[in-house]
Amino acid sequence: MADPANQSALVTGVTGQDGSYLVELLLAKGYTVHGLMRRTSTFSTERIDHIYQDPHESGARLFLHFADLTDASALSRLLHEIGPDEVYHLGAQSHVRVSFDQPIYTADATGVGALKLLEAVRDYRDTTGKTVRFYQASSSEMFGKVHEVPQRETTPFHPRSPYGVAKVFAHWATVNYRESYDLHASCGILFNHESPRRGETFVTRKITRAIGRIKHGLQDKLYLGNLDAKRDWGFAGDYVEAMWLMLQQDEPDDYVIATAETYSVRAFCEAAFGRVELDYKDFVEIDPRYFRPAEVDILLGDPTKAKTKLGWEPKVSFDELVAMMVDADLELAAREKTLTDAGHVIVPPMGE
Ligand code: NAP
Ligand code: GDD
Repeated sequence: MADPANQSALVTGVTGQDGSYLVELLLAKGYTVHGLMRRTSTFSTERIDHIYQDPHESGARLFLHFADLTDASALSRLLHEIGPDEVYHLGAQSHVRVSFDQPIYTADATGVGALKLLEAVRDYRDTTGKTVRFYQASSSEMFGKVHEVPQRETTPFHPRSPYGVAKVFAHWATVNYRESYDLHASCGILFNHESPRRGETFVTRKITRAIGRIKHGLQDKLYLGNLDAKRDWGFAGDYVEAMWLMLQQDEPDDYVIATAETYSVRAFCEAAFGRVELDYKDFVEIDPRYFRPAEVDILLGDPTKAKTKLGWEPKVSFDELVAMMVDADLELAAREKTLTDAGHVIVPPMGE
């Protein structure tokens, strides 16, 4: 295994949930990390500010670059400029319901974006002769209308959303570049993973965010869609470790990363409201806007291969994850309450 202190990595999606945990992991191992971020009209670096704004510590080894996943020339230029040893491709339009509103953009950013990056990696490798290892953020959403329970690496894909279709494209493009061009390219088929840094429009965070605000008198109701869907929810901090392990193997491969437990959205509500001794039935209302044209009813992963070959196992349990998220959002809501009492206008989070 190469000495991480001499290694550099490019992380796309660096401003996202997983990007922030992965950057922390890589910096702690001694890597120099380059993050790809897109230009936005407001700040988008909230999840990595605590690292970036600490230039005397590991933050000195974090560099941010502007590029969009739809811009092949910018991706190629960046590869040649940085010359990374490892590329972690996490960037994507990652919201399933929104992908029904923006199918073409989702295909472009989430699907073809991966292919553009693979092409940039291949071109860089071929012109410089330097080896580059590539990680593709594949998704359990690819299993969609599941053909078996639990889902494993050999389970056929049956995507149920434009996002799932785009991820299947990106997944097979990665496998194809491995088989065609001898790229060290691996896909992590990750099941849902959450954290206090989870985007506020994903269901777990939408629930825990609402609980904090309800407890502090800032919100009365929580509007959700399908409470019967079941997901295999793990902790994002555990899952980025699996991404890194995949790129340290001699041979590239594909791995399911999951907890092997599944809970309904309703069960998540029960556990999360229960943490603050409230009954979710008193607060949760159903809003049909949050139903999807096609739903993924149950996801349950079998991570045996990851355990056997990578030595990876989840550390944080479902109950610990719920507690971690509820507690963090209670603190956040307490700060919002202080600001509200001081006359500041806090705009309530929007769902999706
Ligand atoms: P996330 O929080 O939504 O982060 C997505 C990242 O991609 C953000 O940094 C976003 O930038 C960036 N991005 C979006 N469109 C872009 C574009 N056109 N050009 C450049 N950057 C763009 O997602 P996550 O939860 O960290 O997930 C990371 C990856 O794993 C994603 O590919 C996701 O699809 C996949 N995945 C996630 C899960 C999960 O449960 N979390 C499970 C399986 C697979 P902004 O900050 O500017 O929006
Ligand atoms: N977002 C959301 N908002 N989901 C809701 C709501 C709501 O108000 N009410 C019920 N749900 C249900 C959804 O219908 C879905 O069945 C489930 O909660 C989980 O929804 P999300 O948290 O949005 O996650 P997801 O499973 O659709 O997608 C996430 O996991 C995938 C891996 O399986 C995303 O992180 C994807 O990027 C990821 O690939």
